[in-house]
Amino acid sequence: MEETRGKKETMRLEIESLSCNEAFARVAVAAFMARMDPTVEEVDDVKTAVSEAVTNCVIHAYGGGEGKIWIQAEVEGSLLTVQVRDSGVGISDVKKAMEPLYTGKPEAGRSGMGFSFMEAFMDEVQVDSVPGEGTVVTMKKKLGQ
Ligand SMILES: Nc1ncnc2c1ncn2[C@@H]1O[C@H](COP(=O)(O)OP(=O)(O)OP(=O)(O)O)[C@@H](O)[C@H]1O
Ligand SMILES: [Mg+2]
Repeated sequence: MEETRGKKETMRLEIESLSCNEAFARVAVAAFMARMDPTVEEVDDVKTAVSEAVTNCVIHAYGGGEGKIWIQAEVEGSLLTVQVRDSGVGISDVKKAMEPLYTGKPEAGRSGMGFSFMEAFMDEVQVDSVPGEGTVVTMKKKLGQ
């Protein structure tokens, strides 16, 4: 354990766009970050953020249809970086999409709070998207703050 401390370690996961994989993805990331000796609250924060990002891929990127979701988690010292990527429809106006209460699917009863939760539970959230190509959500959290 001691000799690996501070080194960068990475985990990559490719899953189908299915709602049952939302739980799988958040548990996988939680298990990966266990090496950081996180608090229960830190793990819960990350699980919530991962869950919101993956749910967005399933619902918005692929509209409930087929697709792949790529998750990458990286630990470097006390910094956790999680990336959730899809090759779905993309977002034309990222700034608007990230506004609290904005949802592209009001009719589906979405509350438009997913990105706000990610921002509340992680230290940094960056969204890069190309319409027609896909979206990458990169989230960072420093543990032990
Ligand atoms: N991966 C994605 N691909 C395409 N569009 C997305 C993606 N993620 C988010 N969006 C767009 O951004 C909007 C805002 O996302 P956000 O998660 O904040 O709210 P929501 O998913 O609509 O509602 P909630 O998360 O509260 O159920 C979505 O309604 C959708 O239009
Ligand atoms: Mg959402």
